[in-house]
Amino acid sequence: AFVSLRQMLDHAAENGYGVPAFNVNNLEQIQAIMEAAAATDSPVILQASAGARKYAGEAYLRHMVLAAVETYPDIPVVMHQDHGTTAAVCQQSIRSGFTSVMMDGSLMGDGKTPSSYEYNVDITRRVCEMSHYVGVSVEGELGCLGSLETGEAGEEDGVGAEGKLSHDQMLTDPVQAKDFVEKTGVDALAIAIGTSHGAYKFTRKPTGDILAIDRIAQIHAQIPNTHLVMHGSSSVPQEWLAIIRRYGGDLKETYGVPVEEIQRGIQSGVRKVNIDTDIRLAMTGAMRESFAKFPSEFDPRKSLIAARKAAMGICKLRFEAFGCAGMG
Ligand code: G3H
Ligand code: 13P
Ligand code: NA
Ligand code: ZN
Repeated sequence: AFVSLRQMLDHAAENGYGVPAFNVNNLEQIQAIMEAAAATDSPVILQASAGARKYAGEAYLRHMVLAAVETYPDIPVVMHQDHGTTAAVCQQSIRSGFTSVMMDGSLMGDGKTPSSYEYNVDITRRVCEMSHYVGVSVEGELGCLGSLETGEAGEEDGVGAEGKLSHDQMLTDPVQAKDFVEKTGVDALAIAIGTSHGAYKFTRKPTGDILAIDRIAQIHAQIPNTHLVMHGSSSVPQEWLAIIRRYGGDLKETYGVPVEEIQRGIQSGVRKVNIDTDIRLAMTGAMRESFAKFPSEFDPRKSLIAARKAAMGICKLRFEAFGCAGMG
């Protein structure tokens, strides 16, 4: 059944766990996540980015998620719009059936230019008002995602600041977070602590100077009733990088957010953990391996089944590690 993000994360807060929010673009990803949730009895957040809507189309996304809920009627599902950069995008998603929207006012409507604090407060407050009337939850963002190593937002396409960011822009200020929540009424707040989108987050296993996990507790202390969200939370498994490389892929040395650090984040108040890249890596690795091992195969279902299985494996690990298992 569909639930709102607020309902799901209230339960997570009461019981001290975090929920992975997996990005979805196609049938196999949705099937993989639902299978993993059924196997572990976990609640599910399926989120769609602007890129997902462009790839699959709004109607396909909606009906695939409806099919997931029909297939697994006992699993609570949040259908969340990831990184809306305008109020109009959020409004359209609500009309389309999403039970939760992210108004990312940390960036202007172009999804690239860092905004002023006043702009962010104003647009997020307006989206909260509109969404709460119809029982839809809202995630806001304060601070810009970006690498404390390089000052870069990360991915070149998709949502992320363009140009260099200052150290301050990339770390959410706890006191400002309190003011932001009071003025906007957001249900959940994405915070900036040094993570970034995509596969290239860190050039080494992150330590406290480049991944500010300690800041989470400081933010949580200011806004204990607002659920914290960690974006850019893929762990970038070295095993999957190795498989991709073994079968002809060309990926540079890179490190993600270690699962133990996410677990520390959950202990400090993180309730929603955004993951896209890890599923991409697992599916790509599995498809490359399948193509290499079965060169005469031309039924795409063969490689897609391998990809789905790999994605399911990642999802199960995250549900278990974040304390979701048994909470569905
Ligand atoms: O926001 C970042 C997610 O990884 C979505 O990526 O815009 O390529 O769909 P995307
Ligand atoms: P990753 O690129 O680390 O998977 O982050 C995804 C994300 O934050 C989507 O909003
Ligand atoms: Na989001
Ligand atoms: Zn994100």
